[in-house]
Amino acid sequence: MAHVHERTWWKEAIVYQIYPISFFDSNGDGIGDLNGIFAKLDYLKDLGVDVLWLSPIYRSPLADMGYDIADYQNIDERYGTLDDWDNLLKGCHERGMKLVMDLVVNHSSDEHEWFLQSRSSKDDPKRDWYIWRPPKVDSAGNKVPPNNWRSVFQGSAWDYDEKTEEYYLHLYVSKQPDFNWDNLDVRKAVYDLMKFWLDRGCDGFRMDVINLISKVDGLPDAPISAPGESYQPASMYYANGPRVHEYIREMEDEVLSKYDIMTVGETPFTHDAEELAAYVLPANKELNMVFQFELMDIDSPMEGPQRVPLIKKEWKLEELREITVRWQLYKRDEGFWNAIFIENHDHSRAVSRYGNDSPQWRSLSAKMLAILEVTQGGTLYVYQGQELGLQNFPRSWGIEEYKDVASQNYWHRILKQRQRESGKEDVDMSDVLDGFSQKARDHARVPMQWDKSSNAGFTTGTPWMRVNEDYETWNVSSQLQNLSSVLSFYKSALKLRKTHPIFTYGDFVDLSGNHPQVFAYLRTLDGAQALVVLNFKETPVAFQLVDVEGLDQYRLALANYDENAGPGGGRLAADGKIIMRGYEGHIYLRS
Ligand code: GLC
Ligand code: CA
Repeated sequence: MAHVHERTWWKEAIVYQIYPISFFDSNGDGIGDLNGIFAKLDYLKDLGVDVLWLSPIYRSPLADMGYDIADYQNIDERYGTLDDWDNLLKGCHERGMKLVMDLVVNHSSDEHEWFLQSRSSKDDPKRDWYIWRPPKVDSAGNKVPPNNWRSVFQGSAWDYDEKTEEYYLHLYVSKQPDFNWDNLDVRKAVYDLMKFWLDRGCDGFRMDVINLISKVDGLPDAPISAPGESYQPASMYYANGPRVHEYIREMEDEVLSKYDIMTVGETPFTHDAEELAAYVLPANKELNMVFQFELMDIDSPMEGPQRVPLIKKEWKLEELREITVRWQLYKRDEGFWNAIFIENHDHSRAVSRYGNDSPQWRSLSAKMLAILEVTQGGTLYVYQGQELGLQNFPRSWGIEEYKDVASQNYWHRILKQRQRESGKEDVDMSDVLDGFSQKARDHARVPMQWDKSSNAGFTTGTPWMRVNEDYETWNVSSQLQNLSSVLSFYKSALKLRKTHPIFTYGDFVDLSGNHPQVFAYLRTLDGAQALVVLNFKETPVAFQLVDVEGLDQYRLALANYDENAGPGGGRLAADGKIIMRGYEGHIYLRS
């Protein structure tokens, strides 16, 4: 017997992630803002969205686009004011929608007053709020970082501070110093700022890299997995560390348990389901769900224990299927809950990665991926522009269009290395740009495409990032008018999901066999059945259903080709053979 999942609003929610700087600019300064989001609430409601999750909008120098916070209790001027936020919240609530904030508390900005105090002297009361260590000294007598950890965004994970002659730890860029979570005052300060937002009416948090808050005692050197490099991938010493669960439970006790909210933890560098289950299983009283990255990592090569996100590796349907099925089945009887997503602000566009963005297949494969998403159990996330089938920007764009610090730092590390090795200034970087054109985070961060007017209707000014070139045809306005657009399809698909709890709560049975190009599965709930068949390739294929009872009772509920009903009027053939065209996807319901 499968576990009967308790039904709650956050399980059924369709969550829409907004990347505020690129969503909609209300005042012509080229930067998206809170009033811009407010202006689009009816669009989101009409799409079928229940919850908005905003990437960070707090005061920030934007060294990592707001994931470096200088004041947790204020809105960055560029995005608006606290009044604007209150107004946005009201607008959401009036429409029956909720508003979730991004909680970035593994690290702050180096411009946060807590860090300024911490770095001011070794005796400052806030010294211990961050992770400071004395230098090591190498054989030549030079000061070197306390260990060999590599920052996720290149170089050492330590920066030297002249004033107090110590290093501080930053797992991301040097402007993102890591908090010392072992200090109780830090934890209390975090709980206070969480309460500040919750008491103001915020409906929950997406918790940035929350599995990194507890580092292994002694901060030992990482094993050498990138030979010849000074700094080594070290996630084994900072992901899912020794006290992480103790701290999250404390947070739940002090804060989360007191509100009716949703929580989703971002948990990178972890493919071990057991490890992640600990955050999610209801018995543990921690988080509602986590974002696991197995699917996101599928096209990235390994380097030691970690993936290299900016290089493209080919992936196979078998892998996607195996990952999806495993998580859909995982610990259901113990109440494990999935977060379903195929895009976010840290990855390139899904249609370009998992679908096919050539003109012939773009719209069809984007819709096929929509079916893959809306038919999985868990809480569903849609990233801004995904509902339009937005694709990566072109390979012809130069490195100057890549604004992300992760892209820039990686580029400069490889550039310097090649210049050093060849002794020449001018080195070939085209392979790196090939990787970027498929994998960089920048693709998800270009302005949202609203209409065919200049700058895609995103701003009347100069957009902070270049607008993708296809906006005259690929935009909200034109897709709203077109019943066979990706956007219209998303609306139908989200509605279907909301109408039938089987998609959110049902059991999952894989029917694919080892088929080279089809992913097929059955969902069941309380005597109801839904059947999903997806063709992941351009070539047509005949797929034979086996072990499905009552074939004659299934009716087509949604399909991504316009002329879909076929000779049987949307019924399954009695022999269970389904002919699928390129990237075709079907959902059948049994009644
Ligand atoms: C998370 C965010 C990412 C950010 C990083 C550091 O992975 O999603 O955008 O760069 O944390 O805060
Ligand atoms: Ca603006």
